[in-house]
Amino acid sequence: MTTQPEVLTAAAYAPSDVTVRNAHVSGRAAYDKLVAEADADHEGYWARLAREFITWKTPFTRVLDDSNAPFFKWFEDGTLNASYNCLDRNVERGLGHKTAIVFEADDGAVTPITYAELLERVCRAANVLRSLGVKKGDRVVIYMSMSIDGVVAMQACARIGAIHSVVFGGFSSQALRDRIADTGAVLVLTADQQVRGGKHLPLKAIVDDALALGGCESVRNVLVTRRTGGDVPFNAPRDLWMAELAAAQPTSCEPEWVGAEHPLFLLYTSGSTGKPKGVQHSTGGYLLHAALTCSWTFDLKPEDVFWCTADIGWVTGHTYITYGPLALGATEVVFEGVPTYPDAGRFWKMIQDHLVTVFYTAPTAIRSLIKAAEGTPMTHPRNYDLSSLRILGSVGEPINPAAWEWYHRHIGGGRCPIVDTFWQTETGGHMITPLPGVSNLVPGSCSLPFPGISADVVDEAGNPMPWGQGGLLVVKKPWPAMIRTIWGDPERFKASYYPEEFKGRYYLAGDGAIRDAKTGNFTITGRIDDVLNVSGHRMGTMEIESALVSHTELVAEAAVVGRPDDTTGEAICAFVVLKRGRPTGEEAIRIANELRAWVAKEIGPIAKPKDIRFGDNLPKTRSGKIMRRLLRSVAKGEAVTQDTSTLENPAILEQLGLAH
Ligand code: PRX
Repeated sequence: MTTQPEVLTAAAYAPSDVTVRNAHVSGRAAYDKLVAEADADHEGYWARLAREFITWKTPFTRVLDDSNAPFFKWFEDGTLNASYNCLDRNVERGLGHKTAIVFEADDGAVTPITYAELLERVCRAANVLRSLGVKKGDRVVIYMSMSIDGVVAMQACARIGAIHSVVFGGFSSQALRDRIADTGAVLVLTADQQVRGGKHLPLKAIVDDALALGGCESVRNVLVTRRTGGDVPFNAPRDLWMAELAAAQPTSCEPEWVGAEHPLFLLYTSGSTGKPKGVQHSTGGYLLHAALTCSWTFDLKPEDVFWCTADIGWVTGHTYITYGPLALGATEVVFEGVPTYPDAGRFWKMIQDHLVTVFYTAPTAIRSLIKAAEGTPMTHPRNYDLSSLRILGSVGEPINPAAWEWYHRHIGGGRCPIVDTFWQTETGGHMITPLPGVSNLVPGSCSLPFPGISADVVDEAGNPMPWGQGGLLVVKKPWPAMIRTIWGDPERFKASYYPEEFKGRYYLAGDGAIRDAKTGNFTITGRIDDVLNVSGHRMGTMEIESALVSHTELVAEAAVVGRPDDTTGEAICAFVVLKRGRPTGEEAIRIANELRAWVAKEIGPIAKPKDIRFGDNLPKTRSGKIMRRLLRSVAKGEAVTQDTSTLENPAILEQLGLAH
């Protein structure tokens, strides 16, 4: 169970009159009306919005099919195409000359692209995929960095009904191999190299390594985009250059009209076991929520310039870069680089240069930029004109009140509402979030559920908790953008999200939450499973443990827990027992570094443990179970106050208290 968070006593920030007047959802009464509409007729509410926000090729006649719960189906007999909704539809509405994406490269070079141009690029790429025999329902893995090409790759898959699975460009060849093998992809889309912080980093070479590891025999081709022109290994006829093939293709491409339930994408995320899960999303319900939340949470208007700093390798980049803003015909910034290059003023300079109006980033980035702000004049936001901003967003992890206040004051000039959006890879889009023209903002609280999302807090038997008492976060009714299944593992889907204890009734988010006793505002208290949140990245402790013990020469046993960290939110702490006995001094430092490098190779640099502690053993019960709650206290540097009477070897705790 979760612990009670400190009571949030900070003053609430009410939206200004202008913000309320101009917002799509204007005022608390408007919010209450939407909630009442959804309460009175859940299906009717979602059907109305699905007709307003999506252009259907064949209209749906049935809204929700819950006959095989929890495998819910939405708008099933409707047909549509996601790429048509994001591109053609805008061109047909006269937005062909409007800038869709302003791309800023790592070195500062800016490339804008209009909706008409983007449509052409996507059509050519889609034709290339078709010419290579990629068909509706085939899986395509995308291993690319932030670029127009990355968005084009995803949209091209959607256009022909292929199911994309984007793998974050920071994952290792081993992690990439596992994902390619699990999807059974027929093709991998990648780039020669990626550029981040002034450095050229490999992409294509990692794809080669992944395929060489075996188990990816389904892959027929690797389609390579040229980013740096660097010298990369090329293995004809398997490998092909995208630009050469695209140049020979027509600039139009008939979309594949798919049923609303057709999978749009798979995205792998961490759970409580060692194996990441392939979260499967639908086309119709997902696209609806992507567009709707961009409209209501970010209040996007035709004149806005939206910038979501997430990577397309994460769900935030899917919903709030590739699909949502484009479905609304918005203009958005796509950034290749990192927030600290050439200096930590990069974000603020880009907001100034591109006149960004709505800015969406993660608390980790804010916390690290707060630290860097006093560095040089170039790194402090006061030295930039940020007056174009009108709404700020936060995502991925709890935002601590101090970071919230700084973001509000120094970036938002005290006038921009902050939407602290709680959601997950599985939910497709925002679940609990302030709306700019509605919410009295309380730093650290993600406010109230998005209208139509029946979020609540319950106890372990599924009974509602009174406001003011912490419990498990659940969603009581299905919603259109929800996860449909785990690719290839429907049983795991059921067990993870609709477990027996709840009699399959509610979606279990895996987070703890508490509602404010007076306002009902939600505060998320953190994961209730063995999942860590490091810099807004979800990491399974079991995945890291498996990576460590796969170093069979060195490691006998490993246990991984999280501990709080000022910048990254949580930090990874690994307790390791070596085969050769407990190292000390220089040797311990050397082996710790070797193990970090090993984890980076197995999963990726984001999974490297910050602390590694060596022991002769791990704290275990007499029946041999590792006592993780004790390890969590040790990792935090807290005195162990828990009952240790069942502990087989109490002396071990002191030994494990020493970090390397
Ligand atoms: O623990 C919650 C945390 O991030 C988890 C979801 O991670 P992921 O699927 O990678 O998606 C991240 C981007 C949506 C959640 O279970 N989380 C996400 N947003 C918030 C949050 N915790 C607190 N406040 C948030 N706004």
